Amino acid sequence: MSDTFKYGSIEVPRRVVDPDTAFLIPKVSGYIPECEDIEEMLWGIREQEAKKEPWNTLIVGEPGCGKSALVEWICAELRIPLVLIQGDGEQAVADLIGYHMYREAEGGMSWEDGKLPFSVRRKASILYDEINHVLPEVLSRTHSMLDYRRVLDLKENKIKREVSGRTILTPEQLEVDALSHFWATMNPHDTGRHVGTKPLSPALESRFNIRVRMGYLSEGNEIKLLISKTPCSKKDVEKIVEVANKSREAFRNMEISMPIDHRMTMAWASLTCQFGLKRACKTTILNKLHEDDMDALRGLLISLGIEVAEGRDHE
Ligand SMILES: Nc1ncnc2c1ncn2[C@@H]1O[C@H](COP(=O)(O)OP(=O)(O)OP(=O)(O)O)[C@@H](O)[C@H]1O
Ligand SMILES: [Mg+2]
Repeated sequence: MSDTFKYGSIEVPRRVVDPDTAFLIPKVSGYIPECEDIEEMLWGIREQEAKKEPWNTLIVGEPGCGKSALVEWICAELRIPLVLIQGDGEQAVADLIGYHMYREAEGGMSWEDGKLPFSVRRKASILYDEINHVLPEVLSRTHSMLDYRRVLDLKENKIKREVSGRTILTPEQLEVDALSHFWATMNPHDTGRHVGTKPLSPALESRFNIRVRMGYLSEGNEIKLLISKTPCSKKDVEKIVEVANKSREAFRNMEISMPIDHRMTMAWASLTCQFGLKRACKTTILNKLHEDDMDALRGLLISLGIEVAEGRDHE
């Protein structure tokens, strides 16, 4: 593998692997790059590494369009150690920052790192998935890491420090490595469709230097993806992708509320090899939809020559 990664007009040096953090480098195979802002994202990585100033990226798109896979692919190519933080509505400051816990072997309380100090101490980059599920007051603890200050404030953890010959307890502060990147992903909040999402605070939003909007793969690339990842025949894959694209069009026209995403087409193609196109469609696609969507999709399937029976007699 050459020591630089070239994509379009941008070339970025690959990292030298540190054996201590090699386990954090994602392993990705068969990724098909298509998002039109990949060059900007790579430029941002190169810029941050050259100028030692943060270049944070927010990726917005519908579920299953490939947001997380894109970041993992970039990190796999550049050999960047990556820590994933899965955002959820229950996430508390202690999950991110850490907490004191009782350890019998140590005979008392000691500090346990949360995901942020875990990453910062290892100079790893962070992928914060579904960031807009998390409360703004929890996320505000990331602010000082994401701007010019580049510090993570661990005020809850008091550490011993020598000051003028005396030992005193001070709050710990971690310096964020210049090569640590921060990506976050989210489903669009403004559609009102994604339960549990909240708008990001303006303070956090302004710390993202770029915002990437991701759509689904083009027809040709999705066919390529399904053929490479499943044993499904080309003929069936083409049908599946045709249905998926029609469902996405119907979603854009507000005729259905849930489009068929890449996770769903992969499941449909995989099950098709065992049960055939029609029967596989029921459990991987139709059963996941609300009643209204189910009727609309049945109509769409019929228009494409796929009639899925409601009972067990499918083929
Ligand atoms: N360009 C691509 N090349 C190869 N596989 C892809 C590509 N895009 C998406 N996938 C595959 O599609 C599936 C869904 O992708 P991913 O989990 O990245 O979606 P997501 O947008 O992060 O979804 P969510 O919003 O639910 O987190 C994964 O199995 C991923 O590997
Ligand atoms: Mg994701």
